[in-house]
Amino acid sequence: MNGYRCIACADTQTADFADFLCPACGGNLEITYNYAEITKNVAQGLDDGNDIFRFAPFLPVAKLDTPFPLRVGATPLYAAPRLGESLGLRNLYLKDDTLNPSASIKDRASAVALQRAIDVGAKTVAVASTGNAGSSTACLAAGLGMRAVIFVPESAPQAKLAQSLAYGATVLAVRGNYDDAFDLCLAASVEFGWFNRSTGYNPFTREGKKTCAYEIWEALNGWVPDRVVVPAGDGNILSGMWKGWCDLQAVGLIDHVPKIDCAQSAASAAISHTVRRIRDNGDTEPDWSSVRVDEVTATTLADSISVNRPRDGLAAVKAIVQSGGEAIAVADEEILAAIPEIARSSGIFAEPAAAAPWAAVQQMVRDEKINANELIVCLVSGSGLKDVGNAQACSGTPLIIDPSIEAVREKLT
Ligand SMILES: Cc1ncc(COP(=O)(O)O)c(C=O)c1O
Ligand SMILES: [Zn+2]
Repeated sequence: MNGYRCIACADTQTADFADFLCPACGGNLEITYNYAEITKNVAQGLDDGNDIFRFAPFLPVAKLDTPFPLRVGATPLYAAPRLGESLGLRNLYLKDDTLNPSASIKDRASAVALQRAIDVGAKTVAVASTGNAGSSTACLAAGLGMRAVIFVPESAPQAKLAQSLAYGATVLAVRGNYDDAFDLCLAASVEFGWFNRSTGYNPFTREGKKTCAYEIWEALNGWVPDRVVVPAGDGNILSGMWKGWCDLQAVGLIDHVPKIDCAQSAASAAISHTVRRIRDNGDTEPDWSSVRVDEVTATTLADSISVNRPRDGLAAVKAIVQSGGEAIAVADEEILAAIPEIARSSGIFAEPAAAAPWAAVQQMVRDEKINANELIVCLVSGSGLKDVGNAQACSGTPLIIDPSIEAVREKLT
């Protein structure tokens, strides 16, 4: 790690900078590296092991003395031929990040952020969350023996709250929305001196999420997908995915990068709206310091991507524009319908936010933005078990029968 650079004004800070936002403009920071050094280290081979810390040369944390207590990352990339065929797509893949310790991609971010907290001697980690970042922080903090304080909107799905409580975190359910929880977490972290892991605000979260790109690249034996479709609320998964591919290019492991497509609900589409506005203005590389990301009043049922004010919005908008990706906003009904479609043709159970990429692919096919031969990776970011209510709403109800063979025959014939 070299230091930090502001996503908005490009001002730089040295590695010993102790804050999280750009002192010049208040923008989010991105961590910068000495890529020549990484190239040298990677040439000596990646570490053994079966988690994201295998990618140590690309990570901004001290080398671990002992293995991380839970296996984060190393999730499978599955070919999804039957799901693809349903739209005439020949090369569709699903990156199953439901198979992380707390059942979402958030564990990648939490692992790096908590390791950073350890590096700087923090004992308590706080996070604002729509649900998954909280349950993930709670999970990994439990594994590491740290204290976690979680700020969630009161409406967060029960499963995510139950997870966080079971892991022993202090869960503060804020009477308000995610944005209220975020602002309160920020103020409380300053007041009580906690390490704030909140998404986007803390630049280390993006560094964890970028490992997802490395794993996709490895699983494809060095091929680069044409597009990676990523759900976006705050936009941090998306900006992380982009950074992962950019890192691989910067160290010469790949010679081009994929398009990163953004999948949002039309009822929470601040990032997609902003990208469209930029493109409508004909701006291919705007002055990023003057770009303002839209704010919306989010009403989507996909709780993980229900965000009024995206906390990593500018980085996500930049990633979509620079990669040439699409900014897609789909109806909530399409997101819900995508859950059983994915589950029935691949065996992967997604929560609504995690099903949004497949709904976005359908829209791109309808709009003739995708060619049937493209290599497409949809990120499945969180498990359907986290939101059973919405899963039930789109998957039907059981057939209730008497305990007899006749009753079975009657229903099945
Ligand atoms: C399962 C899942 N998918 C997607 C997202 C959206 O990620 P981001 O807010 O970084 O855009 C989240 C965020 O909570 C999530 O939990
Ligand atoms: Zn700045």
